[in-house]
Amino acid sequence: MARDTRSIRDYIRTIVDFPHEGILFRDVTTLFADARGFRMAVDQLLAAYAGERIDKVVGLEARGFILGGAVAHQLSVGFVPIRKKGKLPGATISQAYALEYGEAVMEIHDDALKPDERVLIVDDLLATGGTAEAGIALCERLGAAVVGCAFVIELPELGGRALLEGLGHEVHALTA
Ligand code: PRP
Ligand code: HPA
Repeated sequence: MARDTRSIRDYIRTIVDFPHEGILFRDVTTLFADARGFRMAVDQLLAAYAGERIDKVVGLEARGFILGGAVAHQLSVGFVPIRKKGKLPGATISQAYALEYGEAVMEIHDDALKPDERVLIVDDLLATGGTAEAGIALCERLGAAVVGCAFVIELPELGGRALLEGLGHEVHALTA
């Protein structure tokens, strides 16, 4: 039987004109749905941070929960969600961030991280970097140290890596 040589990129499908005309939407559900693809993605994210002390994994809504949960499980550390406004039941702190049109707000429970905990932020995709920047700000406002920001895919032309690296943060993406 021929060896399966598919890379992470081969599992990600592109949907034309979603959610708006002219957008090529990178759809990672096809990666997550494939046992080999999902394992490769999680294993490659883990390999990128091997040897780092990570106390918690922080996932960004929504697809960061799927990846981040798996990474946290493998590391045997806790998982903390950062959610869109109004979804978390306990006391929260909030951070506004820019969207393509307008602004949105992300939240974290105010007791989710302890000062000096080292956290890895995980999401599926890095575009402009606004979502990750808000996530970093929330973690840092709770006193945590962000070890890195890990993504399956980045869209380099949208400047997210430049933004986050310019702020002094380590960025790792499995593919572009
Ligand atoms: C997407 C993606 C990232 C974010 C990246 O999420 O999953 O979280 O956009 O964009 P940025 O780098 O320009 O901030 P989306 O906002 O579509 O939310 P969802 O995961 O809840 O669908
Ligand atoms: N896929 C998923 N989320 C996104 C994308 C995309 O192509 N672009 C901006 N956010």
